[in-house]
Amino acid sequence: MISEERPLMNKIKLAILASGNGSNAEAIMKWAVTRKEVEVVCLISDKKKAKVLERALNFEVPPHYIKKESTDTRESYDQKILSVLNIYKPQWIILAGYMKILSKVFLEKFENRVVNIHPSLLPSFPGLDGYADALNSGVKVTGCTVHYVDEGIDTGKIIAQKEIQILPGDSLSDLKARGLLIENDFYPKTLEEILLK
Ligand code: GRF
Repeated sequence: MISEERPLMNKIKLAILASGNGSNAEAIMKWAVTRKEVEVVCLISDKKKAKVLERALNFEVPPHYIKKESTDTRESYDQKILSVLNIYKPQWIILAGYMKILSKVFLEKFENRVVNIHPSLLPSFPGLDGYADALNSGVKVTGCTVHYVDEGIDTGKIIAQKEIQILPGDSLSDLKARGLLIENDFYPKTLEEILLK
């Protein structure tokens, strides 16, 4: 007998790694609920009090805080993350304000499937504070970059970039606020391009 039921669609499973506020993580979870082809299967944070963990709960995405012990090396910590990911079996890892550098052990498991957003037009202003570095340098235009993650600091292959204007008199918090709004729109749109098109 031929079944009338539609075959179960295999969704593209994403795991988010984030350390802080989580506005990008939230934007991605919001986008994912509107797309039947993708699912955010879990969210992992290295910070116990990160607001992003609450945001995950609001979207019924399982939040996991994974503690880095003082005895952990980068590799042993990444192994802890990998064992949690092994429960959910994501195909893609989405970094959204994740403040740790991923080890080779981790990246080999997800080759070309780890994506990050960085708050500058890379290769300009890599590192911890792209907005502050751009503002202090006096440039009139900065931006954000979605890129694949490799073992370097913000050195992976660029996927897409979006400009952000620096206006006369902008303070760092003005620029960050305007930049984050743009990031929150641009990151899900870029994921849509690479995952669904
Ligand atoms: C963003 O500026 C992102 O580009 C950078 O870290 C910040 C995270 O912000 N990697 P949020 O936690 O997503 O609000």
